[in-house]
Amino acid sequence: MSQLLTNIAELTTHTEEHGTLHDAAVVIEDGRIAWIGPADRAPAADTADELGGRAVLPGWVDSHTHLVSMGDRAEEFIDRMAGRPYEAGGIMRTVEATRAATDDDLRARAKALRDEAYRGGTTTIEAKTGYGLDVETEKRLARVSAEHADVVTYLGAHVIPAGADRRDYIDLVTGPMLRAVAPHARYVDVFCEQGAFDVEESREILEAGRAAGLGIKVHGNQLGESGGVRLAVEMGATSVDHCNHLSPKDIDALTGSATVATLLPACDLSTRQPFPPARALIDAGAAVAIASNCNPGSSFTTSMAFCVATAVLQQHVTLEEALWAATVGGAKALGLDGTEDAIGRIAVGGRADLHALDAPTARHLAYRPGTPLTHKVWKDGEQR
Ligand code: NIG
Repeated sequence: MSQLLTNIAELTTHTEEHGTLHDAAVVIEDGRIAWIGPADRAPAADTADELGGRAVLPGWVDSHTHLVSMGDRAEEFIDRMAGRPYEAGGIMRTVEATRAATDDDLRARAKALRDEAYRGGTTTIEAKTGYGLDVETEKRLARVSAEHADVVTYLGAHVIPAGADRRDYIDLVTGPMLRAVAPHARYVDVFCEQGAFDVEESREILEAGRAAGLGIKVHGNQLGESGGVRLAVEMGATSVDHCNHLSPKDIDALTGSATVATLLPACDLSTRQPFPPARALIDAGAAVAIASNCNPGSSFTTSMAFCVATAVLQQHVTLEEALWAATVGGAKALGLDGTEDAIGRIAVGGRADLHALDAPTARHLAYRPGTPLTHKVWKDGEQR
């Protein structure tokens, strides 16, 4: 079964071969892109979708979420807006709500958020554990995450749970909890921050994860210069996320490394943290991703369009750079770039993960901020 998408005013492919095309068409076959080119030369297909002069771009790749989590922390958010600082301690509130939930509750919430993300143009999504912090709940979160997300990350090292002994908890995270979660996960992550885990503890946790066959991610330099960024680079992490407080040495370390710096603009606004120096990172040549960090505490949104618009409007990132960071950058941050699936790109042979906008150009994503611009979304060629 082949589908023709035609009358595309602007087609952003993120490929060297096609770049950005105007008056374009795409043919999808068996969930993959079969043809890309000018609309007036498009081959016939079984069905045709007339896009009426709209823009089409790759689906968003949301490389940082805490999709499987319960509860509502709106009160804490309102307190922050009134000047109270964001603290890692709030995580335990979500842990309590998450532990109390049944698997069906967790599934319903994860599905609702994932479907909301799809409706906003996201087609690839990562989900972290980290709101269980005991072996049984972390395993449940990993299983439910695997049902609803494309990539699962083990974040047993989110914080030390209230009342737990520090050493005993790290032994649990690197031992029985890791063994229970690793079969469901692709990455291990650690919150390397004051109030969570220090650099040496983080190294130990990441080394244990690596020994269990997992790739490495780090929550680093969110609330201060935690050392997380340099640890991530030193250990060859796939990404280091947050990056709000970077010294020139941190930027140097990221530059030329394979570690992607993941920006989380919605989280920065919701926690009133200074934005990361996105312009300096990009100018220095560091690889950058943009993600939602969807979670009920620090960033309760699935909207990648909002994150992209914020990066452009507030962080001096160009629209083209922001689109790249929220698609190809996200794929790199998940180790999915460079495969035949061509996640984050629209490439012949790659997955047909597409996002059509109710706008003639992707520029409207920042030019018309806050306006719901998603027209249609296809994941693996199927409309969502
Ligand atoms: O990425 N920074 C640490 N963890 C999560 C959310 C924590 C929370 O629930 O407040 C984050 O922002």
